Amino acid sequence: MLISYSVVFFSAIVWQQVNSATITSSGYAPQFSPIFPNLKTPTGVVTSYNPGPYDISATLSTEPLTGFPEPWAAPPTNSAEVLAAYNSIDWSKVPNAPVRKQNPDGSWVVKSDGATDPYCWWSSTNCRTPKASYLPPDIYTCPNKGDWGLNHDDGPFNRYTDSNAAIENPYAEPVLYNFLATHNAHSSLFYIGSNVANYPAAAKRGLNDGHHLCVHTWSHPPLTTQTNSQIVAEFYWTLKAIKAATGVTSKCFRPPQGDVDDRVRAIAWQMGMRNILWDADTNDWAMPAPGGGSLSPKVVDSYFQGWINAYNSGKDTAGHIVLQHELNSATVNMSMFWLPKIQNVFNVVPALACNGITQPYWETNFVYPITNPVNPPATYTVTATTTKAETTTSADSSAPSNANCLPGSFGYGFGDGYGGYCCKTEQDCLDNCLGGACTGPTNPVATGTPVNTIRTSTITTAKPGTTTTKKTTTTKSNTIKPTPSAGSCIAGSSGKKLGDGKIGYCCTTSDDCLDVCRGTACDV
Ligand SMILES: *[C@@H]1O[C@H](CO)[C@@H](O)[C@H](O)[C@H]1NC(C)=O
Ligand SMILES: [Zn+2]
Repeated sequence: MLISYSVVFFSAIVWQQVNSATITSSGYAPQFSPIFPNLKTPTGVVTSYNPGPYDISATLSTEPLTGFPEPWAAPPTNSAEVLAAYNSIDWSKVPNAPVRKQNPDGSWVVKSDGATDPYCWWSSTNCRTPKASYLPPDIYTCPNKGDWGLNHDDGPFNRYTDSNAAIENPYAEPVLYNFLATHNAHSSLFYIGSNVANYPAAAKRGLNDGHHLCVHTWSHPPLTTQTNSQIVAEFYWTLKAIKAATGVTSKCFRPPQGDVDDRVRAIAWQMGMRNILWDADTNDWAMPAPGGGSLSPKVVDSYFQGWINAYNSGKDTAGHIVLQHELNSATVNMSMFWLPKIQNVFNVVPALACNGITQPYWETNFVYPITNPVNPPATYTVTATTTKAETTTSADSSAPSNANCLPGSFGYGFGDGYGGYCCKTEQDCLDNCLGGACTGPTNPVATGTPVNTIRTSTITTAKPGTTTTKKTTTTKSNTIKPTPSAGSCIAGSSGKKLGDGKIGYCCTTSDDCLDVCRGTACDV
């Protein structure tokens, strides 16, 4: 225990030191935050870490950012602001590694620096401790056994307008973010600048929902194949897009495909960013869906089950950063499918959090927690389109009239709702609506009689008659709570929070259990 704690503490100290005035004593190269000319202060975003309640409304503006390079193309390297960033770099502190070659199909040209690997080329040798003394080691795992450092690459997942829209859009943001919000989970998100510029409202939601926003390049090239100028431009425009949309300047980045060497690390580091990799890979990106491949989802399922089994059998010696994506419908579905199961076993926190990182931006007023809240926020602020003011106090037992749902809405898995049905928002709903149907199990309580709670709802709406967005704040409280007859549990077993189980009880395993037994108590 003591050892684990000191590892986290040590990580936190290193991060703070290398990014502050004690740079020289750390021995690492100096860093700077790029200057972004002509940026307006963004609206609709929090200005410090938001512990909740979170907005889980299902639709977002698709208005893009203006003044950015063409999305998904290599950004120009000769603009004044990119040149300014380039000229801020101390190039004597950037190793002169060769610009690597890549085959047209994306595979590596077989060429290795060999066993000496002078530039710590991860793609070639899995090297994660730079050979350049002035660069910090990569972050790639969670030091503490039982920690799962949640992370998602390639977002924010944009809506499609072409023939893919029907299948993909039910999974586009804010679907995953809403799912995470209702499952008390936060993630470290590695954003593609082009996706941020196309869909800044999703990036705002990402920040507002308490996730870490990190850089994953503008157009997603393997970075060791890029020239120094190209790397600076990829980083600069991504940093600027995130800053323009959300007001924060990231100090974390992940290279596409993990393709990094000391040249890439040094440029990223001097532009303010620490390299974040992973120690286990879902390969979820390769499942069939736009941008994917032909990997069977069953294989990805087996990886997840394998990590769960390894932990349960006591084989784990440390935690994990497992690479996941918000790339397309397949990856988001997979992420939502496994999150509750992972939460039953692991302590799921963002990848940066399990490494003790609390300040991932130059804007130091953002201070993130490194643990999950003991009592997650009980209320959500919902952006509503209605102006009708109403106050209701009622038992929430009305049956929905049909089994269809709207993407991004929620249904009940167990409890006083009805399996398969969906409702607009419900903090304790366990199912998300995907493709018109709820994802969760069927409710065994077919009658619809409330089994465990009566909810008291007080709904207050903003003053009617204005054209601005109306805010509806819904506060729900459980007024009847069953008293468990036994509050203790066996470590690793699961407990039920709501539904046909009782608060505080534990069961051996259940898909809809929200609690894990830690030290003989359910961690509700
Ligand atoms: C989501 O993923 C799970 C796990 O692989 C799978 O069983 C399910 O069929 C998927 N759902 C959709 C709609 O693809
Ligand atoms: Zn990627």
